[in-house]
Amino acid sequence: MKPVKVGLLGLGTVGTGVVRIVERHQEDLMSQVGSPIVIEKVLVQNVDKSRTIDVDAAKLTTDAWEIIRNPDIDVIVEVMGGIERTKEYLLEALSLGKHVVTANKDLMALHGRELLATASENRCDVFYEASVAGGIPIIRTLIEGFSSDRITKIMGIVNGTTNYILTKMSQEGASYGDVLKEAQELGYAEADPTSDVEGLDAARKMTILSRLGFRCEVGLEDVTVKGISAVGKEDIAYAKRLGYEVKLLGIAERQNESISVSVQPTMVKASHPIASVNGVFNAVYVHGEAVGETMFYGAGAGELPTATSIVADLVAVVKNLKIGVNGLGGGGSFKERVLKSDEQ
Ligand code: NAP
Ligand code: HSE
Repeated sequence: MKPVKVGLLGLGTVGTGVVRIVERHQEDLMSQVGSPIVIEKVLVQNVDKSRTIDVDAAKLTTDAWEIIRNPDIDVIVEVMGGIERTKEYLLEALSLGKHVVTANKDLMALHGRELLATASENRCDVFYEASVAGGIPIIRTLIEGFSSDRITKIMGIVNGTTNYILTKMSQEGASYGDVLKEAQELGYAEADPTSDVEGLDAARKMTILSRLGFRCEVGLEDVTVKGISAVGKEDIAYAKRLGYEVKLLGIAERQNESISVSVQPTMVKASHPIASVNGVFNAVYVHGEAVGETMFYGAGAGELPTATSIVADLVAVVKNLKIGVNGLGGGGSFKERVLKSDEQ
């Protein structure tokens, strides 16, 4: 049984979770894919940094190309974040025939089309389940679970950091700044948390969900965005007195033949299921013409929930590798159909 060798780009919150799950669930993973999954090399910025897991020092490198161009490595797992440099790494990996698993919504929202096209040209897969809603398998669900339906609305809480902040402000009267700091310490926030609190992270995720759900091209520039930085404790308390909770909601709707997508702080009636989604939890409501209402709930950020999605993608990649299919042939590959909305 030849091991499947993985190059891991990043050993922060999510990368650490990936190593833990691959180690802890190795036997079970092997029983599913028929080969051991081995983390062969790990890219970090600082090899001397103290870490919460033991990784063989010989596996650590600061040279990304040593991993990308290593002919022994079959799959690249990208959990380092960043856009332009990371895109360059992943395009090179794909052009060398390596499959890619990524948690990078920034990259997928901005350059997903190019990455997926390059993967297709090279008969590789790009899987990105962890890029939206952490541990909730919403990408797979939109592509496969709803393939028979026509989705009319996708709505939800898709940023864990802001939901954590709003919940603590609502339930404990905590201050915005203190809770943001806590969310950073817990590993929920982005390296630059401005993208969380100003709604950009949620907008990027809604872009990805909208493309998949409505099967058309949606750009980040198409999303109306407002974050929570201007929401004060008094606004939350006032909403509460009126019977509402304030949530940062992403709303994407199909109206006739056009699509509207927005992210904004919204007063949600306390009796609505979304109002009771608290802390780092996310929820995605999907309405389809045939299925009607559905809702998906789970941890939206954090080490193990996010890593669960990454390792599930890894399993899907390895299964495809084993049967020699990829891309559209693989059935589980998350390709976006690039259609203009007027072609729907
Ligand atoms: P993180 O904790 O900041 O970890 C980033 C890792 O990448 C670190 O190990 C860092 O090395 C390494 N790294 C960063 N830039 C590098 C560079 N230029 N060269 C070499 N190594 C570099 O980030 P994270 O929270 O795990 O998030 C990683 C990705 O997953 C991001 O795209 C994020 O948006 C996404 N994501 C995160 C979550 C979450 O809950 N945190 C959930 C879903 C998706 P050092 O350790 O040496 O500093
Ligand atoms: N910063 C993101 C969040 C991480 O808080 O939702 C998960 O994508």
